[in-house]
Amino acid sequence: MKKLRTKFLGFDFENPIILASGILGMSASSMVSVIDNGAAGVTTKSTNIEGRDGHPNPKVITYESGMLNCYGLTNAGFENEKNEIKEFKKRKPQNPLILSIFGFSLKEFEDIAKRVDETQADLIEVNVSCPNVQSEHGKPFACVLGMSGKVIKIVKKHTKKPVIAKLSPNVADIVEIAKEVEEAGADAVCAINTLGPGMVINIDVKKPVLSARAGGISGPAIRPLAVKMINDIYKNIKIPIIGVGGVTYGRDAIEMLMAGASLVAIGSAVHYRDIGVFKKVCDEITEWMKKNKLGNINEIMGIVK
Ligand SMILES: Cc1cc2nc3c(=O)[nH]c(=O)nc-3n(C[C@H](O)[C@H](O)[C@H](O)COP(=O)(O)O)c2cc1C
Repeated sequence: MKKLRTKFLGFDFENPIILASGILGMSASSMVSVIDNGAAGVTTKSTNIEGRDGHPNPKVITYESGMLNCYGLTNAGFENEKNEIKEFKKRKPQNPLILSIFGFSLKEFEDIAKRVDETQADLIEVNVSCPNVQSEHGKPFACVLGMSGKVIKIVKKHTKKPVIAKLSPNVADIVEIAKEVEEAGADAVCAINTLGPGMVINIDVKKPVLSARAGGISGPAIRPLAVKMINDIYKNIKIPIIGVGGVTYGRDAIEMLMAGASLVAIGSAVHYRDIGVFKKVCDEITEWMKKNKLGNINEIMGIVK
């Protein structure tokens, strides 16, 4: 569908819808399924060098208006991810893949940054914003002024691939952090990671439901916050934005594009509308464009000032 085609940092996307990090992004086969179900690109689950078990079950819970998760950056490690990316690229050479990386120190970020060019990933997303490991590792870098910029500078030094900074909503002023990563050389930002963390208590056993007590909030509940933050960022920086947070229907994606996103990532909605959500959202966008006599999706990007 030509009308949905767009470009992001020089890469061609058949439509502006991609997979967010953390959901179905751990294996080549699940990422291939996401493409077969209508997404134009994928983001891998965040990976570090040695991998991580993360927290025990229960680690996800849904409530009326959203979802909480405390996975805690579970991943099988860099070598494994590199092989999954290779397999994905063999099967879907035309679809851009974003490799998400994390570390718990500047040194750990440097160690993985030195190796990302070994992979066939097209772009690198730097996850400085996971809220689910605070009890072990302290505040995410994206919540400490000055730190995200340091991480981005380190990653940029070691890779030729475009670098995207994944920002946290858990800050007083997200624009300040967006400006910081832009100045540090980030090629784009992705906003927003999960909110919180929040807590749900099982009142019968008088205990929090999640094993880690609390988890990052995602899904429809955070969408208006994501839209506002994306719009604020859009008005204050020049680099492009991947919008993410609660997008479930075509109209939500349109809203995010109007706020200033160039691509829209979907995570939790896979739970609400199954893996077919990517195609459903694209079809709903197309329907809306037809009704509104729109020639190309780029016409609405950032129109809400
Ligand atoms: C189960 C789960 C795991 C996630 N894991 C990651 C992760 O590894 N790295 C990351 O940057 N974001 C992670 N996220 C955050 C999502 O990429 C996204 O920013 C957030 O969930 C908001 O989008 P959504 O409402 O569409 O899910 C995770 C989210 C969920 C629900």
